[in-house]
Amino acid sequence: MEERKGFGSNFGFLMAAVGSAVGLGNIWGFPNKMGASGGFTFLIIYLILAVICGFIVMLGELALGRKTGKGAVAAYHAISKRFKWVGWLGVASAFLIMSFYCALGGYCIKYVVLNVGNLFGTGFGSNGMNGGDVFGAFLTNQSEGVIYGLIFVVLTMLIVMGGVSGGIEKFCGIGMPALFVMLLICIIRACTLPGAVNGLKYMFVPGWAVANGVIAEAPSIFEVISTAGGQMFFSLSIGMGAMITYGSYLDKKEHLEKNAVLIIVMDTLVALMAGLCVMPARFALDPEGPIGGPKLLFITMQNVFDSMDGAIGPIFGIIFYLLVVLAAVSSSISLLETVVAHFVDKAREEGKGDRRKKYSLIASILIALLCVLVCVDGLGSNGIAPWELLKLDGYKGWSDCWLDFFDMISEGVFMPLGGLLMTLMIGWEIGPEVVKNECEATEGHKMSSYPFFKVCCKYITPLCMLLILYGQLKSFFG
Ligand code: TRP
Repeated sequence: MEERKGFGSNFGFLMAAVGSAVGLGNIWGFPNKMGASGGFTFLIIYLILAVICGFIVMLGELALGRKTGKGAVAAYHAISKRFKWVGWLGVASAFLIMSFYCALGGYCIKYVVLNVGNLFGTGFGSNGMNGGDVFGAFLTNQSEGVIYGLIFVVLTMLIVMGGVSGGIEKFCGIGMPALFVMLLICIIRACTLPGAVNGLKYMFVPGWAVANGVIAEAPSIFEVISTAGGQMFFSLSIGMGAMITYGSYLDKKEHLEKNAVLIIVMDTLVALMAGLCVMPARFALDPEGPIGGPKLLFITMQNVFDSMDGAIGPIFGIIFYLLVVLAAVSSSISLLETVVAHFVDKAREEGKGDRRKKYSLIASILIALLCVLVCVDGLGSNGIAPWELLKLDGYKGWSDCWLDFFDMISEGVFMPLGGLLMTLMIGWEIGPEVVKNECEATEGHKMSSYPFFKVCCKYITPLCMLLILYGQLKSFFG
């Protein structure tokens, strides 16, 4: 049997895992949710949940992966009788998330091109249209959307074909530090704009958003907790086996606890930094623009760049959208790897050699099909939303477009469910000692968080997860 190749260094692993966690969710989700849900209060609740749920699930996943040395599907199979099938839930989530992630990643590439066009005054720039019109025209131009979506799928596929150390580690080892530097440049520009302080107040000061009419009324504490919980889950890429897969490539000499903490800290840091970039810019240069979701990214931010003088606007536009592309690609490769790892391992075990290229291609073709659907739908602009196909005319209760529909199933149901089942399995079936033993497989390492881990894993985390699941479902069904 061929040797199973993993990450070359702990730094490479860390950058890949942080790359998985840092994604679109950090940029358009976190800043707005924090502002609309009580500023610092939201941050504190987010951090508490990150400790009692995020850390537990993250560490559990990394440990399961490294212990079994297998991808998500085979890891559950090897370790549990009752929860054998949970790995497949992860693969299904990965497919669904990829479908819209690639579409949006493609949009980001389009916006890099758009700003290059603006810089040189060519026909593929904004041509004097405002951000809203440019985005509207793009969404209804179905073939253009599909082409960019497919470019993104191919990019993801090529990196995953390169293997764990040759593709993923290399890309993230350069891409993540580059993202960090570009983000710093954008923060400095945004925070020195006149009026930027309102963005900071929106994001950090409790009650400011309501007092200044940015949102109509303050959410209840239950809503805040479920928003923070859902965001935390999605943002850390947990509950669907991506971290099991990455953990399976990690060397026994690396500390799992330290890595889990670092991933969470860096993800939260980048989410806060993204807020320091987008919110001050929005309040300074486009105070009426959309404040969250895809529209924040593609309408408001483009208006921001359009309103800067001369070549500076397009230059910042290029830097900003490139950093978003980096964030998106580093997440989508971990999603694809979650799917591909299983088949690659199986082929290797059956002595057929490493068929990574073949499986990456097959998985990418399936993902491309879903991605084309999301692109053709154009965030619901083109009248092929799910309820219209199901002939539920005018029924818009649960999803406005294919993107929301896939998001609802994956983020709203599969991921929290996956996290819940994993903690139940560790807490009650195989026992939390399994995680302790795996952490302590690193020579000379004592798992200092074990008492905490044990209590959380058995009681606290599953309960929180049920609450998050309930809150997510409620918010999707409105
Ligand atoms: N964490 C990513 C973000 O913040 C999205 C995501 C969710 C993800 N689950 C994942 C990425 C699994 C990779 C793997 O945008």
